[in-house]
Amino acid sequence: MKILGIETSCDETSVAVLEVKNNKIKILSNIVSSQVKIHAPFGGIVPGLAAREHEKNLAPVFKKALKEAELKMEEIDLISVTIGPGLEIALWKGINLAKSVAQEFKKSLIAANHLEGHIYSNFLNSNKIKFPALNLIVSGGHTQLVLMTGHGEFKIIGETQDDAAGEAFDKVARMIKLGYPGGPAISKIAEKGDSKKFNLPRPMLNQKNYNFSFSGLKTAVLYLLKDLGEISKKTKADISASFQQAVIDVLVQKTIKAAKEYRVKSILLSGGVSANKLLRKTLQKEAKKLKLFYSQPNLQYTGDNAAMMAMVGYYKFKYKKYEMPNSEDLIVDANLSVKNW
Ligand code: KG4
Ligand code: ZN
Repeated sequence: MKILGIETSCDETSVAVLEVKNNKIKILSNIVSSQVKIHAPFGGIVPGLAAREHEKNLAPVFKKALKEAELKMEEIDLISVTIGPGLEIALWKGINLAKSVAQEFKKSLIAANHLEGHIYSNFLNSNKIKFPALNLIVSGGHTQLVLMTGHGEFKIIGETQDDAAGEAFDKVARMIKLGYPGGPAISKIAEKGDSKKFNLPRPMLNQKNYNFSFSGLKTAVLYLLKDLGEISKKTKADISASFQQAVIDVLVQKTIKAAKEYRVKSILLSGGVSANKLLRKTLQKEAKKLKLFYSQPNLQYTGDNAAMMAMVGYYKFKYKKYEMPNSEDLIVDANLSVKNW
């Protein structure tokens, strides 16, 4: 079976082709056109600009994805498109393309959830994942712990009460003038810093629930900067390392605690922040101690991409519990949450 994925929820225009044969998954193409440079001068994503760029890039990205997969649209079995959560005007660009292609070539169309896409980025490289699986989704817009008891069976057991982990990285990076997006910049400079130099708070670490909060940590960095005044490059690195360590301590310790309570068999990390090397290493180490199966997406699938959206489409189609919408009925759901199929 060949699945075409389309993703335009934020600032990456992406189209991918996935092939599933005898239960083996092959990514035939995954074209990602990033708008990072366009939004960087604004210090964050400008929705109108994102929509304009998707409009401009979708057709060439779509063509390139088919070309690289060496396939014609006629040979595709299924189209899977992100309908939310994300920026409404950006999401419509992908949906409109998906609808017109589905109608022209008479293909089935699957409505896919972006967060489920991040979860399923782990299924791109492994079909050995055992349920129940605990997902730590950490992106620019979300931070959630999602218990998964089977394909399409999700339960949110914790989430951020304010900023997402990626958002905190982006905001702290802006404060110390590291530019946008902040995650990669902070983690890079943190390699040269001392994570014990500044004692920053670990919000909600000792609470009994599995929720998170990162805005207090961000404010703590702001006060620290006020106290310090002018800072050297070394201090910047120390702040970055101390901040990164605080975020990772909370994320990892809460995930491990939940993994024990819910007696899961696997831990899966995903989302843009899952590119963070120290987070990957720390969570993997802790999961190993519990002898749990551990998975994290290959680096090129940590950020937004259409391959993971195609993967959701495949499993939704395979597990027919899902009711396929009429392609005309497909609409954006900008605040969509993970939901049982
Ligand atoms: O999943 P994603 O690409 O987009 C959303 O769905 O939000 O996540 C983007 C987020 C940004 O906040 C970015 O700063 C963060 O992922 N990020 C990182 C790293 N690489 C990207 N955060 C920490 N460390 C990284 N290496
Ligand atoms: Zn994302």
